[in-house]
Amino acid sequence: MAVVAQAIRVHGCRCPWTAALQVDTLDIPQSTQPAAVRLTSEKGDDGAPLERLIIDWDCAVPLHGGEHVQRSEYSLEWLRAHSYSAADRATRLQARPQPVLWTQMAGQPSAEWLPRVDMAAVSSDPGLRAAMSALRDYGAVIINGMPTSVVETQGVCERIGHLQRTFYADGMWDTAPKAAEDINDTAYSNMELKPHTDCTYLSKAPGLQFFNCVAQSSSGGMTWIVDGFSVAAAMKASHPRTFQFFCNVPMTFYAKEDDVHVQATAYVFETDYEGHITGFRFNNDDRAAMSSLTEGQVAAFYEEHLPVLLEMSRSPEVAEELQLQVGDMLILDNNRHDPPAIVQCRLR
Ligand SMILES: [Fe+2]
Repeated sequence: MAVVAQAIRVHGCRCPWTAALQVDTLDIPQSTQPAAVRLTSEKGDDGAPLERLIIDWDCAVPLHGGEHVQRSEYSLEWLRAHSYSAADRATRLQARPQPVLWTQMAGQPSAEWLPRVDMAAVSSDPGLRAAMSALRDYGAVIINGMPTSVVETQGVCERIGHLQRTFYADGMWDTAPKAAEDINDTAYSNMELKPHTDCTYLSKAPGLQFFNCVAQSSSGGMTWIVDGFSVAAAMKASHPRTFQFFCNVPMTFYAKEDDVHVQATAYVFETDYEGHITGFRFNNDDRAAMSSLTEGQVAAFYEEHLPVLLEMSRSPEVAEELQLQVGDMLILDNNRHDPPAIVQCRLR
């Protein structure tokens, strides 16, 4: 009980502007106890009742600024939202958005369920919220009616988030085919690429990838998308040893150009504290030598686990094929961590 009181008290010492903790936890005795507790109720700005719990503690503690405080105030809403009880934790976990696995849509054309939102709607807060909710749940969303210029496309992307600077560009670049002598990545070639996530070799791989279709070929031009979370769920059920291997044995990916050599080591499957899949990172063409693994792990990787991963990620059951039209921008969750949903893509 004393530790729980300390855990609550520390959150009563937050800066009202930055929400940062303003107390050194070591300055709060683990034995601290409430000396007096009372409940207040008043009307908030929106007219709704605002209930607060005010606790006078048994001792004062110093804040970073030197002031000593002995009183904490909490909204009941905050206390309920952070209750440590098993029942409340279970309720919160059940209320979390769950990813829609694409295998759940088996037999239904993606045109019927892959979320689409008009660009005009994204300019409003409700429209943006709808688009982002769909992206969270399905791992992909198509924005219709996009402009084709880089500047206008960037404006829509920045409506959603900050652009990540990489060695490719400050944020925006095109993947139009290049002359053979200028190719520095297979994305610029006409070679077929197998399903993969992008930038596996960056320690912070992009969370979202935006693909704005500004020209469509007269033939072909299909986009093949694989739901990595469907792969993970199916593998966990049918090949649990392989699933655990990729959860626990990190892979190293790398990329090399004239003046750039980057690599990152990460797990193929990331899971949360409940064991739910939260991230997927893999590109078989960007794997580095597996020098950090033991001889036994390398043997298991090649003899057992890699074939399972490659075959399952190329299964039509986890894939969707669609044709983007000019004005369609596909947003893919490249390696989202929370809440879970992930797709791999190949544009061709
Ligand atoms: Fe890619």
